[in-house]
Amino acid sequence: MGMTTNHYYPGLEGVVAAETRLSHVDGQKGILIIAGFPVEELADKATFEEATYLLWHDALPTAGQLQEFQQALAARRALPPATLALLREAAVAQVPVMDALRMAAGTLNLNVPATGGDPAHDQALALLARFPTIAAAYWRLRQGHAPIPPHEKLGTAANFLYMLSGEEPAAAAVRGLETYLNTVIDHSLNASTFTARVIISTRSDLVSAIVGAIGALKGPLHGGAPGPALDMVFEIGSAGRAEAYLRAKLERGERLMGFGHRVYKVRDPRATLLAAAAEKVYTAGGDMTLYNLVRAVEEKAVALLEEYKPGRNLKTNVEFYTALLLYGLGLDTELFSPTFAVGRVAGWIAHCFEQQAANRLIRPSSAYRGVWDRRWVPLGQR
Ligand code: COA
Repeated sequence: MGMTTNHYYPGLEGVVAAETRLSHVDGQKGILIIAGFPVEELADKATFEEATYLLWHDALPTAGQLQEFQQALAARRALPPATLALLREAAVAQVPVMDALRMAAGTLNLNVPATGGDPAHDQALALLARFPTIAAAYWRLRQGHAPIPPHEKLGTAANFLYMLSGEEPAAAAVRGLETYLNTVIDHSLNASTFTARVIISTRSDLVSAIVGAIGALKGPLHGGAPGPALDMVFEIGSAGRAEAYLRAKLERGERLMGFGHRVYKVRDPRATLLAAAAEKVYTAGGDMTLYNLVRAVEEKAVALLEEYKPGRNLKTNVEFYTALLLYGLGLDTELFSPTFAVGRVAGWIAHCFEQQAANRLIRPSSAYRGVWDRRWVPLGQR
């Protein structure tokens, strides 16, 4: 407390700015722990509601608690009329989906059902329940279709797919999406989570913290990467063209989306997990063409990154296989980042609760590099 140092850490790299029980990343060993579980186990076994409950309550729910939680979410999925009206206007303007999500999330302290308990918890439930509805409703509006009202009987993942297509999804697709949502539910102090914690640390409200987090997530260095990553694969088109394409990109000094990570210096364990989930989805679909192309592009990209940035250990990150998996589930590239938000909002909220429980205003220092001795010159003499 009260400690001051003069060290400047660009990008806060290596700075520990929170204590958390929510998740741990070991970037050298390629390990991700979520609330005590290896991500591989949680991702494949839990429903999204179970994983969320685990983060929010630090314990797996009993059957009764899980049912109550699912019902509470299902009852809160419908959007306030003002939110829907906003989405309709945004669709006319063809606003990008992440921008529409950010705008709509800002309206979510309207029509929040009160349980009589902690209002912040009511707010958390409404945010979690409504994110998929916003993404799906807006996507349909932008395609010129009417939104599909949420299905009360379906879980979060199944209902999201249902609201996009109007058809009840196959169990394998639901499992694939659930594995994805659990995989990205939390990831230590990433940029969007840090943003949320900074905002809540001022004793601001949950909606403000979540809106700020969406703004941080949408950038291409964070959650905006998977769409461009898959677009790149489509542009490459066939394995034989990968090397020339990637080399040209690196020669121009461009970054390859889906590679490199601030913390992981080995292959992101989430990439391995999502690649396996994608393999199942594409095998079930009976066409491995895209899956095989993505594997080939990955291999070339990792080799070329080592050639162009030797010793930097730029490996495949979560976004590369996010793209392959979500595309295999029938989602358009523009829906990848919003779907990331549908999962990560559970983690953002858990971090906000954690920050509030042991709050200290987050307020770092800056090193002044400006001039010290300017003299005021009256306007007419400048
Ligand atoms: N393609 C090409 N070059 C890359 C690269 C990539 N994907 N990622 C990093 N580099 C380069 C950097 O430009 C830097 O080169 P320089 O020192 O010659 O300027 C060097 O490799 C080291 O970068 P590093 O310090 O490891 O990056 P970072 O910690 O600042 O950034 C990311 C991490 C994720 C922002 C970065 O790797 C990136 O932009 N990746 C692509 C976007 C992406 O996939 N984001 C999703 C992350 S989950």
